[in-house]
Order: sequence, then C-alpha cells, then structure tokens
Amino acid sequence: MRILVMSGPNLQLLGTREPERYGSVTLEEVHARLVALGAELGVGVDCIQTNHEGVLLDKIASARGHYSGIVINAGAWTHTSIAVRDALLGVAIPFVEVHLSNVAAREPFRHSSYLSDVAAGVVFGFGAESYALGLRGLVARLT
Ligand code: DQA
Repeated sequence: MRILVMSGPNLQLLGTREPERYGSVTLEEVHARLVALGAELGVGVDCIQTNHEGVLLDKIASARGHYSGIVINAGAWTHTSIAVRDALLGVAIPFVEVHLSNVAAREPFRHSSYLSDVAAGVVFGFGAESYALGLRGLVARLT
C-alpha cells in the first residue's frame, strides 16, 4: 500500500516561516520522518509540496490507481479552493486533512475548510506531529 503526502503553498518554508507558530522542523525533515513512520507501519510513503494549485490538482488526479490514501496539508487553499475539494472527491481516495497550527484558534477565515466534511479525518494543532498522526490514522482506517 502507498500513501501520498501533499503539502500546499508556502509549506516549503517550514523551519523558517513563523517558527513560533509552525515550529523549526523543515519540510524535508517532516518528509523523512513520514517515510520512516510509513516503513514502521508497513506502507510506502511519497511526499510532494507545490506552490501551484494546478500542479496539486494534477497530482491528485494522477494519484488514482497508485495510492490508497492521501494525507494533505492544503495550506491556505484549505480555506479557498473548491477545486482541491472537487479533485479529492473526483479520485475518491480517502484522505486526511492536516494542519500544523490550531486553525480553530486563529483568524475567522481559517475556521472554514472546503475539505473537512469530506475528509476521513482531520488533525490540527500538533505542529509537524499532525502529519504523523494523520498518517497513523489513515493507515489504521485503511487496514
Ligand atoms: C496551515 C494553516 C493554514 O491556514 C495556512 O494558510 C497555512 C498552514 C497549517 O498547517 O497550520 O499555510 O495549513
């Protein structure tokens, strides 16, 4: 079984971007940790990040037939993109929405998500650990 981990805009800046909010771990370190956790859980893990919404949509579309599940931190697109929601619904691959920060405790525009109600689960507020918790939850759901 393979799981795709996707990160959206500005998440390549992890480690230096508002470290008091998002932590000091880099996205590369998060990815390495998830690949190792995947090995522990007996699943293959591929990780991508993009700042281009169309690229994310294409990657979601091409995930069909290759991945059993998706862990996604769509960043700001979480709160704006019906297209990302439709792409995830279109491939019908179970996905977990994750966020590093506690979006419910932030600005009102971050309280709404186009993904949460169609996600298998949602994890937020645990920093980089949100991705690991999301991966664990998704694998448990799929096995
Ligand atoms: C984020 C939360 C979003 O509101 C924000 O736009 C991000 C990061 C998080 O991981 O906490 O880019 O998805």
